[in-house]
Amino acid sequence: MYSSIMEGKNYLLLTGASSGVGREIAVYLSADYNLILNGRDQTRLQETLNCCNKKNHHLIWQHDLSDTNTIEHSLTQFILDNECLIQGFIHSAGYMKLIPLKMVTVNLFQTTFNVNVFAPVIIAKILTKKKLNKDCLKNIVLISSNISKFGAKASSAYGASKSATDGLMRCLAIELAPNIRVNSVLPGGMRTAMTAQIYENQDVVDRMNATTPLGEGTVKDIPGVVHFLLSNESRWITGQQITVDGGRTINITG
Ligand SMILES: NC(=O)c1ccc[n+]([C@@H]2O[C@H](COP(=O)([O-])OP(=O)(O)OC[C@H]3O[C@@H](n4cnc5c(N)ncnc54)[C@H](OP(=O)(O)O)[C@@H]3O)[C@@H](O)[C@H]2O)c1
Repeated sequence: MYSSIMEGKNYLLLTGASSGVGREIAVYLSADYNLILNGRDQTRLQETLNCCNKKNHHLIWQHDLSDTNTIEHSLTQFILDNECLIQGFIHSAGYMKLIPLKMVTVNLFQTTFNVNVFAPVIIAKILTKKKLNKDCLKNIVLISSNISKFGAKASSAYGASKSATDGLMRCLAIELAPNIRVNSVLPGGMRTAMTAQIYENQDVVDRMNATTPLGEGTVKDIPGVVHFLLSNESRWITGQQITVDGGRTINITG
């Protein structure tokens, strides 16, 4: 594990830390890493921080990632003010609105891509600036979705953005090798704020569970995989989509 060298001012930057999968990743990784927690909601970010392991040092960077024009200035200033070096970047922030094609707007695509694709590009670019981050970045993990390789109704913006997330992941994996590894995790459906409406429909839940060989998963199924991707145990893995969906997307049972 490279956590052993992550002391003092070395941090992981985690977006989406105020809720759901990102909060669970924060709590899990906080035992081994110093964390910078990003989200928009200061109160929920603070709640996440309160749940983190106090043996390491954690900071909050509150910023709206849909505002792509201000990310560079805000993050650069944050890094300089706090004298941080960032060794790993995990992008768990995500935007999903299920809208049928006839109601789709360019604005929907813009907002979805801002959070799911453009924000991680901008952040990766900042963290690979030699002058700012001193070649410290070693690892990027993007939280994608199993929709990336498949399709679903009313999901054109979200699905396209997650396919783009994984395209970005593969290109960065090649461009940034051998110093930085880049992988993505593709979860299946889990109960979070983002999916609350879907899980209100018991018929949908029953259908999803019936086609998931390992049954329903939870946000607790994701952090261990992220931890593995950050560790030296995965030192020869880059450019990969790691699907964590209980086998749902390989099930072609009639
Ligand atoms: N839940 C699922 O079934 C599922 C399945 C596959 C993939 N995923 C992916 O898992 C990731 C986490 O989703 P989740 O299910 O944990 O949803 P969630 O509980 O709703 O969390 C979403 C997170 O994204 C952050 N976020 C959203 N818009 C943002 C913005 N403009 N600026 C900064 N942060 C923003 C939120 O921060 P604030 O609340 O502070 O605004 C929150 O921390 C997403 O990438 C999602 O696509 C989820």
